[in-house]
Amino acid sequence: MQGSELKVKALEKISGEMEVPGDKSMSHRAAILAGISNGECRVSNFLPSEDCVNTLKAMESLGVKVDVLKSTEHGPVEMVIHGRKMELQEAADPIDCGNSGTGMRLLAGLLAAQPFRSELTGDASLSGRPMGRIIKPLAQMGAKIEGTGEKEGCAPLVIHGTDLESTTYEMPVASAQVKSAILLAGLFAKGKTTVVQPAETRNHTERMLAQFGVRTRRNGDAISVYGGQMPESTDLKVPGDFSSAAFWIVAAAAMNGSRLLIKNVGLNPTRTALMAVMLRMGAKIKDVVLTGSGDGEPAGNIEVQGGVLRGTEVKIEEVPNLIDEVPILAVAGALAQGRTVIRNAGELRVKETDRITTVVEGLRAMDVEVEEFEDGLEVVGGRKLKGARIDSFGDHRIAMAFAIAGLFAEGETVIENSDCIATSYPGFEEQIREIRRGGKK
Ligand code: S3P
Repeated sequence: MQGSELKVKALEKISGEMEVPGDKSMSHRAAILAGISNGECRVSNFLPSEDCVNTLKAMESLGVKVDVLKSTEHGPVEMVIHGRKMELQEAADPIDCGNSGTGMRLLAGLLAAQPFRSELTGDASLSGRPMGRIIKPLAQMGAKIEGTGEKEGCAPLVIHGTDLESTTYEMPVASAQVKSAILLAGLFAKGKTTVVQPAETRNHTERMLAQFGVRTRRNGDAISVYGGQMPESTDLKVPGDFSSAAFWIVAAAAMNGSRLLIKNVGLNPTRTALMAVMLRMGAKIKDVVLTGSGDGEPAGNIEVQGGVLRGTEVKIEEVPNLIDEVPILAVAGALAQGRTVIRNAGELRVKETDRITTVVEGLRAMDVEVEEFEDGLEVVGGRKLKGARIDSFGDHRIAMAFAIAGLFAEGETVIENSDCIATSYPGFEEQIREIRRGGKK
């Protein structure tokens, strides 16, 4: 919503313990895979954010019955999803994916093989994001998908479901969304579908497929699935979202005297590269895996102590595994002594906003020295931040990254258009207020 504002002032230290809401990537996948499974799946700690609720609603509009068992003020967090044995039903209306690239791309893979017409729409941001990256490989499988938006290859997507053939596809960009769209389509195709990734991307789809008894094969950079495997119903517990925890990790690590325990966070190694980078920056972080083994998702606690950070260079292979954390990592760079360099991250230009530009503009508004590159940025840290008005441009991670920056700034920081935070992290504003009161002891 236009007009919403979040005001933040400096804080001396962060202490206590907290939990963050359920993982966004896993919640999307849980709604989809449970919805095509062969029975009842109880999903707990589902992320009640706009993005994930849109995907859940999408599955409902495709005939999936969902019994909500528990809701918070933000939305449903526990539910039984009644799987439709891989056979969905035509939606009466276009399916609104809201702001979510994950929702749209995964649903496109799923609907490519359903024997009916579907239309996927999104908000202005999503309608400008590239869908050719899924249309091309899915078309190679025989799918009939058209990007009918004003911008070429963009949403609304019109899908005429049809029988699919298996394929092998080498992804030109390291994208878990593209990989997942292909694997979901591959589940319905004849034979073995293989996707080759140029770099390691988050592997929640493969892990969750395994939890549903669907085997995927991994051979180096190639991941394959045989079509025709019916996902067997299972119960899922979604751990806290590491990408949400990242805001607090940076805040506590950069604030002297802080001591924060973040409980029940997903610690899948394809997601946690931010911690490796922060450790190189001198951060005092300890993570302990407490649950999850084999195919299940590892989860546990993260303990952070405040201290002094120094700049670092992000390695090329780390980029896909911290892609959503770049805005907050750039803020960490601004709070660190010396230079922090993030390159090879051109993908940021096609996220909810062009995150290279929105991060650079926001940092400059707070009086940080920063250089913009086509594929990243370089931040010179160490100077006291100045409070400023920062437009999120409707991008949740920009809003939150600069709200955290505001905790370190002189004067007041106002985040404009802060309502977008609800797309991934309902409750963030309340938690900022709670931390100001001294946190949970
Ligand atoms: C996601 C993958 C990433 C990430 C997004 C969620 C997913 O996108 O930025 O927030 O759930 O698969 P790409 O894989 O397209 O880079």
